[in-house]
Amino acid sequence: MYTVPKLDDYSPAALDRAVADLFAALDAETAALHSDSDWKALRDRWLARKNGVLTQVNDTWLKAAPKEAKRDVGQRVNELKARAEAAIEGAHEKIHASSSDAKLAAERLDITLPGMQRPIGTKHPVLRVQDEIVAVFQAMGYSVGEGPEVETDYYNFESLNFPPNHPARDTQDTLFIAGQDSKPARDRLLLRTHTSPVQIRTMERQPPPVRIVIPGKVHRNDPLDATHSPVFHQVEGLAVDTNITFCDLKGTLDHAMKALFGSSVKTRFYPSFFPFTEPSADMQVSCIFCGGKGCRKCKFSGWIELLGCGMVDPNVFEFVKHNGYDSSKVSGFAFGMGVERIAMLKYGVEEIQLFYEGDVRFLEQFA
Ligand code: PHE
Repeated sequence: MYTVPKLDDYSPAALDRAVADLFAALDAETAALHSDSDWKALRDRWLARKNGVLTQVNDTWLKAAPKEAKRDVGQRVNELKARAEAAIEGAHEKIHASSSDAKLAAERLDITLPGMQRPIGTKHPVLRVQDEIVAVFQAMGYSVGEGPEVETDYYNFESLNFPPNHPARDTQDTLFIAGQDSKPARDRLLLRTHTSPVQIRTMERQPPPVRIVIPGKVHRNDPLDATHSPVFHQVEGLAVDTNITFCDLKGTLDHAMKALFGSSVKTRFYPSFFPFTEPSADMQVSCIFCGGKGCRKCKFSGWIELLGCGMVDPNVFEFVKHNGYDSSKVSGFAFGMGVERIAMLKYGVEEIQLFYEGDVRFLEQFA
């Protein structure tokens, strides 16, 4: 390996020779490089401030030069350093280029190979129907909201006019979070049994007028059977403004059902009870399987019960009075529908579990 010789002849010819020897050595070393780590070793050997070849040149040639040769040697050493640094830099680029060339060559795409097909997922039928329901109301100017699945007793029941211990609570077999006995009843957490708590949350956030739909997951301690699941989905609706009447409720829902099931579907409303609406109603649609003539699906009645609804009870407005909900000035309607139920009717699915089993043979029929 090259080492810097001592000079005793400082004539231009001798200096030329010494410089030529040095570059011959450097050229030979750079030509032998194979990898980045080879290059780093070379760089260190030549450029290290402490005892690198160029430092040695400085010490051995320049510092030892007789006074009258110093100018000439100094100039040559400067040129030589610049040239050597450039050569070493150039060697790096070359090594880099050849290793990335090699990488590229190894990764070259063979466009004659058959392609890889990745199966793309599709929207789950329940979410598809949920989105469809939401879109029907969006087209009527409704906004879309959401609320938490873990709720407090206050939002799920109390502010919806379910007094503590009222038997109406029993119709919604509630899953409570354990270990909260030390909390006041209204703060206790539960899995929301319906999307109605978001009615109150919306009215707390926003003064009237309101037109909103709220899709979401709800939970009830219901045993699983062909039409019941402990987890299911609802779409809630709420409209509050001046002069909202039961006619608005009927017209809105009738339009929505025609949009969802086709224009020949009919709706009818009959009295029901919910603590948070007064009057309350259940809405039925004419059987979409037999058109109302009567069949097994509608238990030969010609009608299928689909959702709960009613005019917002003034007692509910009491809880959000501070935000402009004065029941002598505004009125409203609300409704809540089960998404799975509507999906089962639309697609003729007879077992609710099919939606949750994740069997691709079932799900891909909705793709
Ligand atoms: N929350 C009710 C339920 O789950 C449905 C409903 C919503 C009824 C809004 C009236 C108004 O059974």
